[in-house]
Amino acid sequence: MLLRAVGLAKSYRGAGAEPIPVLRGVDLEVKAGEIAAIVGVSGSGKSTLLSVLGLLEPADGGEIWLDSERVSHLGRRAQARMRGARIGYVFQSFLLISRLTAWENVLLAARYVGRDRREAEQEALRLMERLDVLHRRGHYPAQLSGGEQQRVAFCRAVLNSPPLLLADEPAGNLDEDHARVILGEIRAQARERGTTVILVTHRAEAAAEADHVLRLQGGRLEPS
Ligand SMILES: Nc1ncnc2c1ncn2[C@@H]1O[C@H](COP(=O)(O)OP(=O)(O)OP(=O)(O)O)[C@@H](O)[C@H]1O
Ligand SMILES: [Mg+2]
Repeated sequence: MLLRAVGLAKSYRGAGAEPIPVLRGVDLEVKAGEIAAIVGVSGSGKSTLLSVLGLLEPADGGEIWLDSERVSHLGRRAQARMRGARIGYVFQSFLLISRLTAWENVLLAARYVGRDRREAEQEALRLMERLDVLHRRGHYPAQLSGGEQQRVAFCRAVLNSPPLLLADEPAGNLDEDHARVILGEIRAQARERGTTVILVTHRAEAAAEADHVLRLQGGRLEPS
């Protein structure tokens, strides 16, 4: 899926009355099957950019296009449908649902889009096996290590092979081996399924996988 952002702006209101600009005109274009890595210092707005691109937070200005549709200006319901059907998220804080087991968390996305249950379960088994969390499938998030939660959250995000995958430090808490598996999965999603990937990362080896490496600095994206 072609992702295009034009002039995205976003400010937050701090404790004072003055809004603090985080994004000041972000332009971005990523084609189907491409991986764009976004780097930048802590607080530069990387997570903010992903939530705006993922239609989780509205921008104050600018436009977001997915293929030939201007999704930034759709209504809330249409945006919610778009998120469920076409966007996969790996959040920096995982956001697993605490009262659901790892298995139930992974299968949540499939249920949402009404996918055949048998087929989704087969895929979930394969994915959790590859990510080395299948043996933890009956556990609740609080019973999992940080890295295990991260890998379960990753399985949930890619189970439906969404055309757009937004991943915020998806290997941030992981050792080399598990990080390599996640990066391999991301690469496979992009190359084999044509997934468009936006990857926030500090890992040099992750950036090395990317087709574009962009730095978020001063509220804008520039080639790194
Ligand atoms: N909901 C919010 N309300 C107010 N300010 C916010 C909010 N979310 C983020 N910010 C501010 O916006 C700026 C960018 O935050 P963001 O989380 O996007 O940075 P980041 O680049 O992802 O950082 P990190 O590498 O530490 O994850 C920060 O200064 C942060 O304090
Ligand atoms: Mg962040």
